[in-house]
Amino acid sequence: KRPAGAPDRSLARTVTKVGIVGAGLMAGQLALLVVQRLQVPVVLTDVDEARLAQGVGYVHAELEKLAGKGRLSPDRLRRLSRLVTGSVDKAGFADADLVIEAVFEEMAVKQQVFAEVEAVVGAECVLATNTSSLSVTEMGSRLQHPERVVGLHFFNPVAVMPLLEVIPGEHTDEATLATAFAVGASLRKTCIRAADRPSFVVNRLLGRFMGEAARIVDEGTPIEVVDRAFAGLAPMPPFVLIGLVGPAIALHNGETLVRAFPDRFWASPTLKRVVESGRRGFYDLSSGRPVL
Ligand code: CAA
Repeated sequence: KRPAGAPDRSLARTVTKVGIVGAGLMAGQLALLVVQRLQVPVVLTDVDEARLAQGVGYVHAELEKLAGKGRLSPDRLRRLSRLVTGSVDKAGFADADLVIEAVFEEMAVKQQVFAEVEAVVGAECVLATNTSSLSVTEMGSRLQHPERVVGLHFFNPVAVMPLLEVIPGEHTDEATLATAFAVGASLRKTCIRAADRPSFVVNRLLGRFMGEAARIVDEGTPIEVVDRAFAGLAPMPPFVLIGLVGPAIALHNGETLVRAFPDRFWASPTLKRVVESGRRGFYDLSSGRPVL
């Protein structure tokens, strides 16, 4: 069944090679999903050589883990591993049909990345952003072909979260949007069309949930009490979830929402303190105790 707001699938372009910009946690998870489900060459790029090697290594190691669990045959493991490569420059994107950026959540950085990608790829290549809160229209605004830009917002952990937000910008054309939905379906995600508004749909909902949880803590209730209060209400309590997503991303999302809807969202000093301390989350991983 065609998802609501998805164009006719016959408009979708075939994707035979995928580029991924960034080699961090999200980019690695994306590369793993793409190679498993689309079985096409996937090229990761990152300006940082060490991070690139780590990103490609992560995908190879995860494929090996799947093979170890009997979920991939040795032959398929070899084939998929060979399909995933890394390169510090973007020349390998020349014949890609889809490039997904998953770099630092900052508009200027993402615009620059898209400009560099556009200089290399063919005229019909779709440029997708995995931004969780920024404007897709603005991200494409400096390109020669803003009609090829679309948001593809995945959720953490990418392998298991069923949803994919597909976000057309103001100039996105039907072929780009149809390709985005077709790729989402091939990745076996449930696609929803989300409007290009700050934080789209999911993070706006989550922002209320996490923001209110942080506010209760800001008012003096211990973190573990708030998390325990969530038993059975959601698969993960709010502060465990912030640890999974990454406090910096949660804070960035919160700040975007506060700017866009100041009457409804809350900039939490507790969250800011955790980000400034450089900690990955609210709990000590070895003891399981809260760190604040
Ligand atoms: N990577 C890959 N697979 C994972 C995983 C990970 N990090 N964590 C769990 N899994 C897999 C497990 O291998 C297991 O698969 P099988 O059943 O095939 O063996 C399955 O998920 C279930 O795992 P568990 O039984 O260990 O644990 P669980 O039942 O608690 O589920 C969870 C784990 C799916 C992560 C669940 O806790 C959950 O849904 N949490 C909420 C996550 C969420 O809300 N994510 C959205 C965050 S917002 C975001 O990402 C957007 C943004 O822009 C910031």
